Amino acid sequence: MIKINKYELYEHSVQDPDVEARFIRSLYKRTFGKPPLYLREDFCGTFKLCCEWVKMGKDNKAVGVDLDREPISYGKKNHLERLPPQQQSRIKIIRGNVLHTHRPIVDVVGAFNFSYYIFKTRADLVAYFKSAYKSIGKKGMIVVDAFGGTDAMDANVEKRVVKGKGYKFTYIWEQKNYNVIRNEAEFNMHFKMSNGRVMRNAFQYDWRMWTLPEIREAMREAGFKKTSVYWEGVDKHGRGNGHFRALEYDDACEVWIAYIVGIK
Ligand SMILES: C[S@@+](CC[C@H](N)C(=O)[O-])C[C@H]1O[C@@H](n2cnc3c(N)ncnc32)[C@H](O)[C@@H]1O
Repeated sequence: MIKINKYELYEHSVQDPDVEARFIRSLYKRTFGKPPLYLREDFCGTFKLCCEWVKMGKDNKAVGVDLDREPISYGKKNHLERLPPQQQSRIKIIRGNVLHTHRPIVDVVGAFNFSYYIFKTRADLVAYFKSAYKSIGKKGMIVVDAFGGTDAMDANVEKRVVKGKGYKFTYIWEQKNYNVIRNEAEFNMHFKMSNGRVMRNAFQYDWRMWTLPEIREAMREAGFKKTSVYWEGVDKHGRGNGHFRALEYDDACEVWIAYIVGIK
């Protein structure tokens, strides 16, 4: 029987690194009038974004930072080693804490899939953004994602069939609880295979549900001069259409994902 790896299932379910890489490049170009070359992927896990980044341009370089040896090893075996040597040589992985890693100096720091929600206090969030600020050059930016909505304020379960070439399974995102007093929530990610087997609690998260103004204020406090929220447009059925633009006003909705950008 083929052993299914939880990182592979995770990547198929919640990652879109090529879309994210292009989004970052276009944001930076619009802001600074030139393409960014050096990306740091914080909380990089299996560092797929780093790999997409170096594929996108022959001068692109990427550094990934993560505390955990396990996803890094998976990424080395399954992504890095499959790249041509010329691309491999432009990726560096640091096993370390994003709060204490400030070198090399890069053009963009990116943190995705809400990883910085592990910081539960404003002091820790500001410390993280300060660390990112120290790690970028004069023409530098940070890009993070955020999610929320009325659905994120209650226990609930979302199921989605994920299929592609050679795989089909159900992704199950369980919100275990929501603590209104602390604005925190716990989540579990499970996977159900087509043979009925369930991989329970493949990933578990305990997060502060940061609001958009809190994130922007923390970025400003860390030194970023300007912040913007990129909000997703909707299709004719009212579902997210994958197009994000900078907005200062929109109505609330049940579930939303947005990007917050801080400019140095
Ligand atoms: C949800 S995964 C994110 C994976 C990937 N960034 C993505 O977009 O899907 C969170 C990762 O953050 C790492 N992590 C948690 N705290 C960290 C810290 N202080 N410094 C570096 N990595 C950290 C964990 O080891 C884990 O691999």
